[in-house]
Amino acid sequence: MDPLTATLGAAVLTAGAWARRRLHLSRARHRSLQGHARMARLLARLVPFYEFGENEFFASDGAPADLAARRRRGFARLAAALAQQSPETIDRTRAIAPGLSDLQFTSAYRVPFPYRAYVNRHLTAGALLCESDGVRVRDADGSAAYDVSGSYGVNLFGYDFYKECIDAGIERVRRLGPLLGAYHPIVEDNVRRLQAISGMDEISFHMSGTEAVMQAVRLARYHTGRSRIVRFCGAYHGWWDDVQPGPGTPRTVRDVYTFAELSEHTLRVLRERRDIACVLVNPLQALHPNAAAPGDGSLVSSARRASFDRARYTRWLQDLRDVCTERSIVLIFDEVFVGFRLACGGAQEFFGVRADLVTYGKTVGGGLPIGVACGRRDLMKRFRDDRPWDICFARGTFNSHPT
Ligand SMILES: Cc1ncc(COP(=O)(O)O)c(C=O)c1O
Repeated sequence: MDPLTATLGAAVLTAGAWARRRLHLSRARHRSLQGHARMARLLARLVPFYEFGENEFFASDGAPADLAARRRRGFARLAAALAQQSPETIDRTRAIAPGLSDLQFTSAYRVPFPYRAYVNRHLTAGALLCESDGVRVRDADGSAAYDVSGSYGVNLFGYDFYKECIDAGIERVRRLGPLLGAYHPIVEDNVRRLQAISGMDEISFHMSGTEAVMQAVRLARYHTGRSRIVRFCGAYHGWWDDVQPGPGTPRTVRDVYTFAELSEHTLRVLRERRDIACVLVNPLQALHPNAAAPGDGSLVSSARRASFDRARYTRWLQDLRDVCTERSIVLIFDEVFVGFRLACGGAQEFFGVRADLVTYGKTVGGGLPIGVACGRRDLMKRFRDDRPWDICFARGTFNSHPT
């Protein structure tokens, strides 16, 4: 074969292999916009605001006139009752909102945006609470309501339990006070317990679940020398760019793939590629694979459903485990939300699948802010004995806080 033909042949083969890998990649991505972050961000910039007027507001689902009228009356009654019940709370909420961007954001997105203006005009929900008592909370007017929020999943044992934890915790470290840098001896017990729960060798403390996930991903990249991470459609892992590559992040994120769960295409790409550092799994997805957990917006409709196929999800996790082991990809279970709800040893114990790194947060802190990353000794190490400048930095003012 002459050299030109040989070169052309090699080029065609390389291009063919590249095209095949691109095809496999595109099949593994979830088909929805979640799987196509750049397109989703572009679209998000194009969707214009619109709002429902009063008539559409109550009949946006095509409800007949008499039903819409009943809804309007019910809404007006609710707005009047709230205004009468909690005038001071509402006034104070309105007063702090202009200076509190977090509150502006949550108020704007507590209902889907076409309903936003009408709701905010007529029904101000007070955002100030002064007391909790069992399952009830009291606002600045002393008005009581049942707590159905559960504090984003932190409140697993009831507020009274956390109040006791905080009081007991303060008592145990009072003599040291909030001194940072060195550790209070209490940390010894915390480390031992977390080692037992996670089955891992080492623990690192952080201030939030987001931070713990950042640390786990950074360690995976450091030890594998690879940049890409794989997350799954619908799974929440906190609010930093690399785990939220679509709308919500102003930057184009290039090294994150959002793949479909329970998918052979995903397993094939994991087997095929050499640039994947880690796979992030949020075990809460077992309840609704490839879809986000219901949020404020989706809860306005009754269309959501949850189903749980333990055997199928277990097989999926086992398949992921096998392919990660085969390709030296770090398998991270993000148990910040599920924590110990499923079993004392968390999702690892419940599904009988061991991860390489695990993150926890929320209720672990006994009601105070926390994030924890646990892992195998070789993966948790942040420096190399033979390359002193090659480190994987992770520190924080509050890392040694006695919570
Ligand atoms: C699975 C999971 N990972 C990470 C996070 C982020 O934790 P935090 O809000 O403490 O930063 C959450 C929060 O809901 C979560 O559910």
